[in-house]
Amino acid sequence: MTDIRVWVDGTLVGPDTPAVSAVDHGVTVGDGAFETAKIDHGVPFAVTRHLRRLDRTMSGLGLPAADHDRIREGIEAVLDGDPIDFGRLRFTVTGGRGPLGSDRHDSDLTHIVTAVPHTRPEAHGSVVTVPWVRNERAATAGLKTTSYADNVIALARAKGQGALEAIFGNTRGELCEATGSNVFVVVDGVVRTPPLDSGCLAGITRELVLEWCAADGVEVVEEALPLEVLTRADEVFITSSIKDVFPVSAADGRALPAPGPMTARVRQVWAAHAALGVDP
Ligand SMILES: Cc1ncc(COP(=O)(O)O)c(C=O)c1O
Repeated sequence: MTDIRVWVDGTLVGPDTPAVSAVDHGVTVGDGAFETAKIDHGVPFAVTRHLRRLDRTMSGLGLPAADHDRIREGIEAVLDGDPIDFGRLRFTVTGGRGPLGSDRHDSDLTHIVTAVPHTRPEAHGSVVTVPWVRNERAATAGLKTTSYADNVIALARAKGQGALEAIFGNTRGELCEATGSNVFVVVDGVVRTPPLDSGCLAGITRELVLEWCAADGVEVVEEALPLEVLTRADEVFITSSIKDVFPVSAADGRALPAPGPMTARVRQVWAAHAALGVDP
């Protein structure tokens, strides 16, 4: 991780340089929002949509609005210099200095922007379900907060089982999402994905797949699906900013075509539209 570039509140700093207060509420209680966008050929993808989602998370947390100009300044700073061929751009905004507990001080927000090269995604990968649930009624449901420990635990379990991603159901036993991706299944020849009230994150890639497939006449249905749909779906794919539309080759050990025909079609739609601009 030596090639990670870090910018905090106006200054580029070394990755090992202390730059955030030890009593920052993001550090002490995970009181913050973040976004991860893809960098491809030196250019970040869909930054405007990521900033919009950051605003929704900040508002959902009850924090003041993040400073978009500041974040854009940070993005320019970390992308200056040698272009990153493929990588991850992350921006994080926390509540700033706070007390050690869950209460808040009236404090300036902390704005952090980082960029790091990343290997391009593999052609496909496997997923496993985990025994823990997404709580679709949680105060933070659908928010991209810096409290990601549930995802850290689930992803470690998936990796321990040789899988690439972990899939959560919600408290109603419905298919929800993965630790860092949304999930789609193909049943009866139709692409289906859980609706936002399943408790999943409103993924930018998910949202673009829905918009672009609708534009190109490829039906994608948002509907509640039982978690066990993974035992009978003909195809499964996951979507994320880093993975785009990513074929799943096995779910809980059951082999799947990767990509199957519908996944391949959605990937074509994605590639055609994504080629038209970097900030759709
Ligand atoms: C929990 C969760 N779900 C879904 C996604 C996919 O969202 P996006 O397509 O915006 O990357 C992410 C992204 O990291 C995530 O953290």
